[in-house]
Amino acid sequence: MTELVWSVSWETDLDDAEHEPLTALLARAYPAETDRLVGGRSWTGARPELRIVARDGGVPVAHAGIIRRFLRADPHHGPGRDVLVGHVGLVAVDPDQHRGGVGRALMAQVVDTLVGLDVPFGFLTCGPDVEGFYRAVGWTRLPGVAVRMVSIDDCVVTDQDPAMVHAAGRPLTDWPAASVLAQDGRGI
Ligand SMILES: CC(C)(COP(=O)(O)OP(=O)(O)OC[C@H]1O[C@@H](n2cnc3c(N)ncnc32)[C@H](O)[C@@H]1OP(=O)(O)O)[C@@H](O)C(=O)NCCC(=O)NCCS
Repeated sequence: MTELVWSVSWETDLDDAEHEPLTALLARAYPAETDRLVGGRSWTGARPELRIVARDGGVPVAHAGIIRRFLRADPHHGPGRDVLVGHVGLVAVDPDQHRGGVGRALMAQVVDTLVGLDVPFGFLTCGPDVEGFYRAVGWTRLPGVAVRMVSIDDCVVTDQDPAMVHAAGRPLTDWPAASVLAQDGRGI
């Protein structure tokens, strides 16, 4: 592996031609989503605002997307208020490079980007199979928190999968205590 070249790009600054190699990377990392990841359609739910990409010899080998959004803290499920987050998704490392530290480097770039965006927190939901990865790179699971969301199939669902946060501009002690959060925009 040569040295990775990192970039952080706003979605509207990417050329159309840049999406196809990103789609190819994401399809390799998310084989269950290959129906959605076709051609230049390098997203599955919402399109990111920002993309963090690592390239090896010009080829994308790691990717994460960020959208800023408010989560609503459901007042029927504990105290809290709406909270601005940098919602992180489409986290992917080329399968040929798994377990080599690229994911850790990617998430360090993600946190730097969240701090640069001046959002209080990073937020993501993940499958139980990768909770350990996010914990290993410094994210914290919100215990007992469910997220009411619009799924990538456009259904409203209550997701019990791990919801993870990372401090950016504020300490985690400022995170609202509600046990149900509503994410009203389409998931990334
Ligand atoms: C999850 C993913 C991004 C991890 O990337 P990676 O480059 O393999 O991660 P790293 O090698 O940098 O690992 C960082 C740490 O996380 C740990 N880790 C990596 N994957 C893990 C997993 N699935 N479960 C538990 N721990 C994991 C590593 O052991 C390492 O810990 P250590 O430094 O304490 O030894 C990668 O497996 C991937 O792209 N998976 C497919 C897409 C996906 O599931 N994305 C997440 C969707 S929410």
